[in-house]
Amino acid sequence: MPKNRRKGGKSGLGRIENEQGVKMDSGTLSLEQIEERFLVSRRNGFLIACSDVKLDRCWSPFEEIAEQLTKNVENRLIRQKIVELNGDHDIPEDKLGQLCLHKILTFLTSGYIWMDGEEKVPQSIPRCLAVPLTRVSDALGLKPILSYSSMILANWQLQDPNEPFDFRNLNAMYQTPGGDGAEWFILTHVIIEQRFAPAIEALVDAMRCSSEGREDDVGLVKALNIIPGVLKEMIKTFKQIKNGVNPEQFYDELRIFYTGWGNGKAPLPDGLVYEGVDEDRPKSMKGGSAAQSTTLQILDAALGITHEGEQKEFLSEMRDYMLREHRDFCTYISRHSNIKRYVERTKDNEVRKAYNSCINAVRDFRGYHMMKVNEYIRKPASRKDRNKHVEGIKDCGTGSTPYLEFLHQVKQDTDMSKV
Ligand code: HEM
Repeated sequence: MPKNRRKGGKSGLGRIENEQGVKMDSGTLSLEQIEERFLVSRRNGFLIACSDVKLDRCWSPFEEIAEQLTKNVENRLIRQKIVELNGDHDIPEDKLGQLCLHKILTFLTSGYIWMDGEEKVPQSIPRCLAVPLTRVSDALGLKPILSYSSMILANWQLQDPNEPFDFRNLNAMYQTPGGDGAEWFILTHVIIEQRFAPAIEALVDAMRCSSEGREDDVGLVKALNIIPGVLKEMIKTFKQIKNGVNPEQFYDELRIFYTGWGNGKAPLPDGLVYEGVDEDRPKSMKGGSAAQSTTLQILDAALGITHEGEQKEFLSEMRDYMLREHRDFCTYISRHSNIKRYVERTKDNEVRKAYNSCINAVRDFRGYHMMKVNEYIRKPASRKDRNKHVEGIKDCGTGSTPYLEFLHQVKQDTDMSKV
């Protein structure tokens, strides 16, 4: 759970402080302030543009190994190359530099650990990797493992900034082994994130129109009506996943590199030792999952879609794997959205209709997502000739949920939110 503390304040919309003690005002921030404070943009949503960032030359040896990750895994030289590195350098002071470094070090960690699938998995990562990775993760409020922010949000590059934001014009900067499918998988998520961008302004507008004293029904309907179109665009991109990654390739080759460690799960039931960190006590980490995307969590928070029990717990835990600013944005929206309460009280049918269309659209996205999970995990996992070196994640997601039951419940919760 984000470690936010409430501070006094009137009408329940008082100030809160984030985990670093930075004040987050009552829900009256302008869109520009929101963009600046929470690292979001109307243009690209939660994506972070950092393809032009140049790290200090001391990190070049790390970059070179990460750029050739597939080759270094295939020729089994990655571990040897990593242990020879010197990690005793200051981490960058700026956020984008830190994110780039986190990305490089977490891709390296993934290759280092999962080089042989579940066979012969090392119990630790060396100090030269563990120490800078821990420092940079702490600075960003991220976990020291390959997660959504580094793998997706900060891992894209436009070939031509004047051309459309689509598969043809994008590259992933780093990728796990798994051939072209690995890059396509990343880009599918990148483009889905970008298609979400218009929802940010729409949700902020809808919150303003439904705030106490404002009660602007026409504005609220107009803002809410943007959301179903956004979700349709996200599904449209999701449909293209099959053009570049097939389910067997995803299951057999790719998924293992997004896997976490610890929490009693083989092959690292006690977790991973980050040498030189925390007296070498092993740490448990959830693997990378789009459950760490802020998109659906923001929709839930703004529209008042709630989850209970294990679903709630897992989704809040996933916020710990988001960038600190994105986590704070979730808290800000949860605390200040009055949309659902307003819709429950209104007598205006158009408002209710617009709200329910948003809920249906979120449910449909979750329904489509379940279909894809079935196609990309459940079916390939039941093949006799499946890769038997990835059995630990056969029956669960990389985020470690028993996914079918979990996703079904999350979808059901969405449906139940209709007014
Ligand atoms: C073939 C592609 C995909 C597969 C196999 C997949 C698999 C999964 C699994 C197994 C979970 C359960 C949590 C876990 O244990 O990791 C999950 C959750 C989730 N996934 Fe995906 N996923 C895929 C693509 C996407 C995409 C493109 C998005 C869009 C952002 C997405 C968004 C989510 C969200 C938001 C959750 C949390 C549950 C929710 O809020 O509905 N996934 N995914």
